[in-house]
Amino acid sequence: MFQGVVKRLCFSPNSAVSLLCARHCCRKTHKKLRISEAFSSQLGANVTVQGWVRSARAQKVNVFLHVNDGSSLQSLQVVAGAELNDPLLTFGSAVEVSGILQESPHEKQPLELQADSIRVIGECDPVDFPFKVKKRHGLEYIRQFPHLRCRTNAFSSLLRIRSEATSAIHSYFKDNGFVQIHTPIITSNDCEGAGELFQVEPAGADEHFFSVPAFLTVSGQLHLEATAGAFSKVYTFGPTFRAENSQSRRHLAEFYMVEAEISFTQSMEDLTKVMEDMFRSATEHVLARCVEDVDLFHRHVTPGHRVFLSFVLLSSLRITYTEAVDILTRSSEQFAFPSDWGCDLKTEHEKYLVKHCGNVPVFVTDYPYDLKPFYARDNQDGPRHTAAAVDLLVPGVGELCGGSLREERLSVLRARLEQLGLEDAYSWYLDLRRFGSAPHGGFGLGFERYLQCLLGVDNIKDVIPFPRFSRSCLL
Ligand code: 4AD
Repeated sequence: MFQGVVKRLCFSPNSAVSLLCARHCCRKTHKKLRISEAFSSQLGANVTVQGWVRSARAQKVNVFLHVNDGSSLQSLQVVAGAELNDPLLTFGSAVEVSGILQESPHEKQPLELQADSIRVIGECDPVDFPFKVKKRHGLEYIRQFPHLRCRTNAFSSLLRIRSEATSAIHSYFKDNGFVQIHTPIITSNDCEGAGELFQVEPAGADEHFFSVPAFLTVSGQLHLEATAGAFSKVYTFGPTFRAENSQSRRHLAEFYMVEAEISFTQSMEDLTKVMEDMFRSATEHVLARCVEDVDLFHRHVTPGHRVFLSFVLLSSLRITYTEAVDILTRSSEQFAFPSDWGCDLKTEHEKYLVKHCGNVPVFVTDYPYDLKPFYARDNQDGPRHTAAAVDLLVPGVGELCGGSLREERLSVLRARLEQLGLEDAYSWYLDLRRFGSAPHGGFGLGFERYLQCLLGVDNIKDVIPFPRFSRSCLL
């Protein structure tokens, strides 16, 4: 085994240093650790870590490095004798360091690694590298380098938070008896009826691959409804696609949606309770588990957002669409879009409503029937005809979730589908009402918008690893 190590070290570009160290290595066994594990290891342990240099400083007697492997925000300080110095030890280079963990004289870090070997695995020219040592680059600047931006502190924190938030959402549903369903990505239906579909066909095909035109899903809802008819409580969490020609700060062509569907519910309160519980539970989970990463955002990237978020977690409000329109028409604000009864609420209206309600989450319920897709339950309530639909609006973002009670009555649903000329296309969906239909409802939460709300990030392109939006480059 040790021979193998020596052989590999001899081939490194830094062979003089490596050979010197290989002799040490042969005498000791080094345990390979992630840097987060090294921080909770015993002093005196012989360890090997691998990562990227976040800073390198050479003095007469010693070399100091900070090495980060993405396992935590904290980098590990490495101290080495000057004989281990190497001009290739630059900001951004990939390294492997072996040595002994020892107490650090610095208060901020519990320990450091006294190196007996340093190997440069991948060089990095600090002049060409777009990020500079010790410089805090803004999110807008790093967005220009989607393939490299995870090497920055801010974006690596963001992606760790995103990963933890994903687990938090799965945990919420698991703990509350929901079954996860993998709903299809390729589908023939336009669930939302907005026509924002990406068509899927084999390249160069002159006939449909499937028996009907196929599209990337805009929502897993209809398939969730099918499975809610057997499991009662189901959810899905996956990529969703909308061909919106939007350059906005809250729209992507490919985003992640969390969707839940609950059978045997008749009240909007049941539904909004699940939305609120999930939001709170996921947020508390992330705040507890990503203390340093969230702190980096709330201190340096979006200062002041922590206070803002504490308001969001404090309480929520419920108003009807009709009440929302009253608030908007009574306000002295000049809106670019009309806010009369029957008009869709635009971002400017949503943001105003949230502010008006004290910057807490606001559930707006009972929208005009004609504004909502065919599946929303008819409230059958007279001249101002509404459907049992709900949007959750949150500070800074506007609409975070959209949902509704579903039309479970076969005759009412059939009449609506007939009116829209969709009866044939949705005959399978009507079957769900013909065979053991139960009152049910559900919602979808835009995962990127959730992260925007959590961290105070203004642009949705900064909360997803590789954003896809109209006219964007694809890596
Ligand atoms: O309100 P929407 O369109 O609701 C549905 O698709 C329902 N079928 C969901 C359901 O009931 N199961 O979308 C849900 C959420 C929105 O509130 C928003 O947060 C997010 O998805 N969203 C987007 N996020 C990023 N980019 C886009 N283009 C988005 N479109 C919607």
